[in-house]
Amino acid sequence: RMDKEFVIFIFGGTGDLAKRKLFPVLESMYKGGKLRGLKGVYALGRSVGKLRDYVSNLDRDFAGFFHPFEFDVTDKDSYERLGREVSRFPKEELIFYLALPPQLFETTIVHTGSLLRRFSNPRKIVIEKPFGFDLESARKLNFQLRRYFTEREIYRIDHFLGKVAIQNILSVRFSNYIFEGIWNKNFIDCIQISALEEIGLEGRAGYYDRVGALRDMVQNHLLQILSFLAMEPPAIMEAERVRDEKVKVLSSIRKFSRDEIDRYAVRGRYRGYIQELGRDSNTETYAAVKLFIDNFRWEGVPFYLRTGKRLKKKVTQVVVLFKEVPGNFGRLLGCVPRQNKLVFDIAPSNDVKLFFEMAPPEGFLACPVEREMELDLSPDGLPEAYETLIEDILEGNQTLFIREDESELAWEIIQPILDAWKEDTNVPEYEPGSWGPEEAEVFIGKDGRGWVLV
Ligand code: BG6
Repeated sequence: RMDKEFVIFIFGGTGDLAKRKLFPVLESMYKGGKLRGLKGVYALGRSVGKLRDYVSNLDRDFAGFFHPFEFDVTDKDSYERLGREVSRFPKEELIFYLALPPQLFETTIVHTGSLLRRFSNPRKIVIEKPFGFDLESARKLNFQLRRYFTEREIYRIDHFLGKVAIQNILSVRFSNYIFEGIWNKNFIDCIQISALEEIGLEGRAGYYDRVGALRDMVQNHLLQILSFLAMEPPAIMEAERVRDEKVKVLSSIRKFSRDEIDRYAVRGRYRGYIQELGRDSNTETYAAVKLFIDNFRWEGVPFYLRTGKRLKKKVTQVVVLFKEVPGNFGRLLGCVPRQNKLVFDIAPSNDVKLFFEMAPPEGFLACPVEREMELDLSPDGLPEAYETLIEDILEGNQTLFIREDESELAWEIIQPILDAWKEDTNVPEYEPGSWGPEEAEVFIGKDGRGWVLV
């Protein structure tokens, strides 16, 4: 791959994602000598004049490869001009990166796909999340992709999978008997996955209001974390085998019907959202769901997933809560024991923590105390998620990308919630800076549990 030459075309080149993540990552990879075959980065967007300041601050060498390119994804002419640009690269690999809102995916796939019929270059297409708006639109996208590309050329990206702190879930589970031996319904009480954010709309209102928390975070990032937590080990380290295991988990998630939704999902919207948006809306900025995986390992163990904007602070965390041991020492002494907890901190810190009960200094006849072991993933920080994934794309490694069947299964799980919420316009509110709506506490409280953050 060292000598392989390639060109990257980024649709949405003036968008938030391109400017905040993709360009800086490409620039730093370039400087680090990781883009050796690079022949060009095209930033395609409707008013690329806006990029002028940006370009003037780029690394001088990298700027030589960086081409702002006036482009409208819905306009035939734009693709003609793109075609002329592509002909300058007779044999290079062409990488098309759709950093676009979901309503623009289909037209871009179709136009790019038909343009590519005139070329024989090796090619890849990268599609951001959310992959459509619902199950039906995701199926349509897959149908169009299949017309023009093979699955080996398609990279449905979910940047959470590029986070080492999330990959570490698999490393910890599948390298240590001490965890894997108890990783099932006999020992685990429940698993909680939280992706809580302090930020609000941040100039992305146009995108966010069409999407909402469930589509923006749960359908992709949180379900991906869930599959890492719940999957069986792959027999061999190969993209298809890893993805097969994730697909098995997603297909085992219990389906629920529309009228059961309130038992499985709850939403919220922060106070002031409508004013900020400047128009009426039913979009949720907070979503929590409870899922069951009906298989031998997980039957009866709830997975609670929650996410929201404008909350108290940014925390992305997985908490695995263990059952109480029979004849618990603390209980025998009339104390209230805490649950053992294994925690994967994904943000702001990157570590693994283990909480368990120990004798207090007074001796074992006094109430046990909870102690904590903390293991940092890296003292020097971790690679940027997008960097890992862009490297994988260049190398053709699809392990950390979403396969066609997986993309649809993830929508199937949340589709009944989307349907129910669309009809019921009553969205509970929460205070900005809180931990979410009161309804979310009641929701988990009904199971005799509470949300845990540590
Ligand atoms: C993105 C969502 O996929 O993930 C954003 O669209 C969200 O709304 C972001 O803020 C969170 O990612 P991270 O890596 O900052 O936790």
